Amino acid sequence: VTNAFTDMPLARGPVMSNRLMLAPMTNCQSRADGVLGDDEARWLLLRARGGFGAVMTCAAHVLREGQAFEGQLGIWSEEHVAGLRELTDGLRAAGSVSAIQLHHGGERASAELTGMPTVCPWENGQSGARMLGTGEVENVASAFVEAALRAQRAGFDGVELHAAHGYLLGQFLNAEHNRRSDGFGGSFAHRRRLLDLILAEVRRCAGPGFQIGVRLSPERYGLDTAEMIELAESLMASGAVDYLDLSLWDCWAEPKDVRFAGRSLLECFSGLERGSARLGVAGNLRSASEVQRCLDAGIDFALIGRAAILHHDFPRQIQLDPTFEARALPVSRDFLAREGVGQKFIDYLARWENFVV
Ligand SMILES: Cc1cc2nc3c(=O)[nH]c(=O)nc-3n(C[C@H](O)[C@H](O)[C@H](O)COP(=O)(O)O)c2cc1C
Repeated sequence: VTNAFTDMPLARGPVMSNRLMLAPMTNCQSRADGVLGDDEARWLLLRARGGFGAVMTCAAHVLREGQAFEGQLGIWSEEHVAGLRELTDGLRAAGSVSAIQLHHGGERASAELTGMPTVCPWENGQSGARMLGTGEVENVASAFVEAALRAQRAGFDGVELHAAHGYLLGQFLNAEHNRRSDGFGGSFAHRRRLLDLILAEVRRCAGPGFQIGVRLSPERYGLDTAEMIELAESLMASGAVDYLDLSLWDCWAEPKDVRFAGRSLLECFSGLERGSARLGVAGNLRSASEVQRCLDAGIDFALIGRAAILHHDFPRQIQLDPTFEARALPVSRDFLAREGVGQKFIDYLARWENFVV
């Protein structure tokens, strides 16, 4: 039986010492120029020391114009490497595998923050984003690859491509709106082409030891659930990714698409051919028993988001006490500060519904 504290070799790179990965979480603690901030480093290091087998950073933008959040981590310049190098040294010393999430906001980038127009796979009347030209799509692909190589130079064990939540890579997957006719839109094969291209190029340039993951949303954001299932299976079975990270928000929810009624979203993916890739899920996992329920359902590892904000040592807690459950929300600012959540992150969380008293 797999439990949360069975170690997890991946197809490449270092072994995770358990089945718990810190979920990528925007925390608004980087400097205005995208350089890693001290509070952000502290937040992540404390989670590594708290027992997470792998720590993933927040979404980090790969081009200046891709920034979506104030205080967002950047990885679009060599200036970003030194701070990240210090972080990865610390994570490794704490025994944690490290990954950085690579992101471009696309139409959801902030023109106000970047001072640059927002872009999108299509001409977007609603958001005002301009349609990317074909050459610009190729530049986006190069930016993701260069960011991955920067991450490798900074000492990360791997990268995760953020293709979930309707940001740029997810916008290309959009079945409703991406009708480009230049080979990057229209048919499903063409809508996924940018993602496929980046994956192949990162693998070719970063070499065989580097871990590559992809985060997908299974629905909403103009996505077709059947296509996302097909995409997930082909990415895993072909060996294009070392792991897939499904962002479910609630692991036990049923798909909105009635064609998949009667089972959970998680079950739509857990039976797929996986090759040597690993499958992880994020979605309101708050206790030892919920993590175990995912593993029992055939999932390889759990990504922990909000419960890891509340408890820097969530892994240690569930290891010591199988009845452990994360504290109920909302919590006080003092409580968060004691868990190594900095003031700017607390301010950001205060904008989430019912998080901070
Ligand atoms: C404060 C906060 C920031 C987040 N930022 C990101 C992000 O940068 N990238 C991402 O892919 N998901 C992000 N998410 C989603 C989480 O990674 C996770 O999938 C989600 O919170 C569900 O897991 P949980 O129920 O354990 O929190 C964020 C979630 C929270 C609560």
